[in-house]
Amino acid sequence: MSAIQCVLDDLQQFHDQALRKIQESGSLKELEELRILFLGKKGSLTTGFLKKLGQHPPEDRPVLGDSVNRVKEALQESLHNRISVLKLNEEKKHEDSLWLDVTIPGARRLIGMEHLMKRVQKEIETLFIGLGYGVKEGPEIEDVFHNFEALNTPQWHPVRDENDSFYLLPDQILLRTHTSPVQIRTMLQQSPPIAIIAPGRVYRSDYDATHLPAFHQVEGLLVDQDISVAHLIGTLEVFVRFMFGKEKKIRLRPSFFPFTEPSFEVDILWEDKSGKSVWLEIMGCGMVDPHVFEAVGYDSESFTGFAFGMGIERVTMLKYGLTDIRDLVRGDLRFSRQNR
Ligand code: PHE
Repeated sequence: MSAIQCVLDDLQQFHDQALRKIQESGSLKELEELRILFLGKKGSLTTGFLKKLGQHPPEDRPVLGDSVNRVKEALQESLHNRISVLKLNEEKKHEDSLWLDVTIPGARRLIGMEHLMKRVQKEIETLFIGLGYGVKEGPEIEDVFHNFEALNTPQWHPVRDENDSFYLLPDQILLRTHTSPVQIRTMLQQSPPIAIIAPGRVYRSDYDATHLPAFHQVEGLLVDQDISVAHLIGTLEVFVRFMFGKEKKIRLRPSFFPFTEPSFEVDILWEDKSGKSVWLEIMGCGMVDPHVFEAVGYDSESFTGFAFGMGIERVTMLKYGLTDIRDLVRGDLRFSRQNR
């Protein structure tokens, strides 16, 4: 083989290898390294072939030079093409990473809802606020003074028994057994006229289909001059019609609470499932007992007032036809959704 043919073979081999390397390169950085390696000033083509041109006989040089140039151009073109391909790939990768399939069904977000009890409580508040009442809150941990004593509730009263109430400190501190202590707290803070309702949680040692150990009441208190049972009845009628319907009838039955005199139980006339009319008890109420006024320093000669207390669970059960009070606290979503 002639010397020139040898060089041309080497050149061809170099071309083929370089081309393969370029085709296989996976990044722009790698490609730039290859460019320097093959075509750079100190690269293989220059040092291996161009610089050696002078060693060949003058008649061979044009052919050789020509071949070296063609290899150079071929490699340059190949580099160029590969750069475009890699750039495109990178762009596509970037685009892919941004791609969003808007047809995938979304993750369903559960829409929450107000608990029935809260809904009823708000309705009660709305009505009484409309009648000019304020909404008051009191502590759930109470002392015996506010929960019993100031409410004229003597030691012998069953609710004071350790077995019926949750005492934190025997005979001193307990979880309030009703919202009535808020009456006391309000009257100790303000002077008449007073018109408040006090919704909140209360506690008694009870648990069955109609009783929970923790339940909710709304207390009502109105104190002014010349307040009579007529005002009480009128207010309760407005309440019952607002909550249960215009045609609903109520009646007052004599009852007993230590802090009201006279005291009543309020019944509402209800149609049961078989269409029979029955009187259902919905709350306790009465005229504020003068002893209570004395306990808070009010002049019981000048002021009169009425108070009432109802269980929000009971109102809710009546309104929504529930039979088991425990459904209200089980947290079963099927129950909640049913009453949406
Ligand atoms: N506090 C009484 C109870 O829990 C209800 C009530 C409140 C009665 C106000 C009369 C006046 O049973």
